[in-house]
Amino acid sequence: MNREAIVAIDGPAASGKSTTAKLAAEAVGYMYLDTGAMYRAITLKALRLRTPLDDEDYLARLAEEARIEFVQDGGCVRVLLDGEDVSEEIRSPDVDTNVSLVSSYPGVRKRLVAEQRRLARGRGIVCEGRDIGTVVFPDADLKFYVDATLEERARRRQKQLIEKGTALSVHEVQQDLEGRDTFDSERETSPLTRAPDAILIDTTGLTIPEQVAVVVDHIRQWRVARQQDRSDQHEGDGAEQ
Ligand code: DC
Repeated sequence: MNREAIVAIDGPAASGKSTTAKLAAEAVGYMYLDTGAMYRAITLKALRLRTPLDDEDYLARLAEEARIEFVQDGGCVRVLLDGEDVSEEIRSPDVDTNVSLVSSYPGVRKRLVAEQRRLARGRGIVCEGRDIGTVVFPDADLKFYVDATLEERARRRQKQLIEKGTALSVHEVQQDLEGRDTFDSERETSPLTRAPDAILIDTTGLTIPEQVAVVVDHIRQWRVARQQDRSDQHEGDGAEQ
């Protein structure tokens, strides 16, 4: 069967993994799946409903009931929560502050991981998050761990926030990122960690095209190797007849 690759990209906040994953998916014609957006959508739903964020059972139920969809809109992917476009709102500072806690609950993760696996079924996909190569797709065909220094990540995130009209100092952004990374890495369920077989991409000194090229080159090499395996197998089958 001619199958396409499952590509897992993990890494800390503002490491460049979303941009890399999205552009690499576009370049090879794969689906792009931003799993952080799913945790953000559940967090937004909880904040809107004023759900106490320590009520794990209720949050798990919210995750169970929420309908999260990704819709291609020209060059970008919109995120719909129960039919409403929340692409901008899920990036608000309020969601930023609370998403680590909401995503730490096993009941919330169980539902979203099942959904991520369902979305990937039978297609080529570049999926990014924190636990993609370790938990969601431990048998992914290609795994990457994207990282950059904390200073560089804070600088990038501050630039994004300014573009959206939120002025925070680099120091404030750095503190927020550090807090989230520590929480995401130290939680009990599916912590952020580099899978032993993940290829490390340090984006600190790389341009966006350079980091995208690393992923795209590996996907192309994977396709060639797979094609080669298939023709070797055909030749083997022929020789046996
Ligand atoms: O990638 P992001 O910054 O949009 O992710 C938001 C939060 O969601 C992040 O703090 C950790 C959590 N997350 C997760 O726990 N597992 C994932 N696969 C993706 C994101």
